[in-house]
Amino acid sequence: MQPRILIAREKIAARVAEIGAEITRDFAGEAIIFVGVLKGAAIFLSDLARQVRLDATFDFIGVSSYGARPTPAQELHGGWDSTGEVRLTKDVDHSLRDKNVILVEDILDTGLTLTYLKDILLSHQPKAFRIAALLDKPSRRKKPIAGDYVGFSIPDEFVVGYGLDYAERYRNLPDVCVLPRE
Ligand code: IMP
Ligand code: MG
Repeated sequence: MQPRILIAREKIAARVAEIGAEITRDFAGEAIIFVGVLKGAAIFLSDLARQVRLDATFDFIGVSSYGARPTPAQELHGGWDSTGEVRLTKDVDHSLRDKNVILVEDILDTGLTLTYLKDILLSHQPKAFRIAALLDKPSRRKKPIAGDYVGFSIPDEFVVGYGLDYAERYRNLPDVCVLPRE
């Protein structure tokens, strides 16, 4: 199974720079906090943060899915189908009260993870709350949630690289690649 390039590194870098400029304009003169969803968002967050010219800090949050999680092979063949039972494995380290929060995620798929996280983070009563997702698979959505800053909309394919994994592998590929289903 050889990953094939879907979005090349130069294209990712250009889009990340655009999003960084947009965030810089939207929050001009204010401080922001990036909250990255472990582990997939780590690479996107580190590149995005360096394109933002604001007073910025980082935090991280971790989640996992309960119950009959598909095996990596099922996940690959049938797409990711979590049951919606998401559980926190790591909470943020600091209160987000009155902060400008940008939740950073690798991919918006069914929307179950971000819907769960949005509720948790909104309970902190931030000043502003935005979602930045590198990738979006709108055709897979089960919950009506949208990103405020979206890198690329992609079709329903299983992708890896630039932080995204298949059974924890491939996160370090510099391009976003499709893992062929056969
Ligand atoms: P959601 O809760 O269905 O929106 O799923 C979000 C999570 O599923 C992401 O943070 C990824 O970890 C994982 N995921 C969804 N689609 C893919 C994919 O194509 N490749 C790798 N991971 C994916
Ligand atoms: Mg994953």
